[in-house]
Amino acid sequence: MLTVAVLISGAGSNLRALLEAARHPDFPARVVVVGADREADGLAHAEEFGIPSFTVPWHEHESREAWGEELGRQLAVWTPDLVVLSGLMRLLPSSLVAAYAPRIINTHPAYLPEFPGAHGVRDALAAGVRETGASVIVVDDGVDTGPVLAQERVPIRADDTEHTLHERIKPVERRLLIDVVRRIATGDLSLTSAP
Ligand code: GRF
Repeated sequence: MLTVAVLISGAGSNLRALLEAARHPDFPARVVVVGADREADGLAHAEEFGIPSFTVPWHEHESREAWGEELGRQLAVWTPDLVVLSGLMRLLPSSLVAAYAPRIINTHPAYLPEFPGAHGVRDALAAGVRETGASVIVVDDGVDTGPVLAQERVPIRADDTEHTLHERIKPVERRLLIDVVRRIATGDLSLTSAP
């Protein structure tokens, strides 16, 4: 059984989808802990599903490294096989990436390498393109630059706002994330041989 730690910053809708998938007896992975960089609303999902959680507040640490060290300490307690960044709106320090690489994956609301960064949905709309997408990648030291594990296109509608587009992308992200976690757990997808 693959053990998974999930890190969030926000509403945790992708986390919730993973928790729902993982409670099915046939799902080959279990979420063992949820962590956040703030008092994220999504921590309520962990509580509802009886999953332990922790918060390492970004603003209580003097540097990214200090924050990352504490995050690493909290994660280490659970010895997760895989770390899923699910809407974590902070870059991890290199030392923490190195400690888990390539076993850290991230979901992103764009078709990488198009529109990396914190505003992938807004940037796609601003660019005036007709389609964007969702991606799941391996986390490396860059900003959304790691190997792509799965991705899918999402069309942009003429009347889309950032909110409506993001709400259409999120279900695709969830589906891709659950599928990737399942395939990693079954050995169908190897992170070490990711392109
Ligand atoms: C997702 O689109 C994620 O990729 C992005 O923020 C969203 C997280 O939403 N960075 P939620 O917290 O899972 O609801």
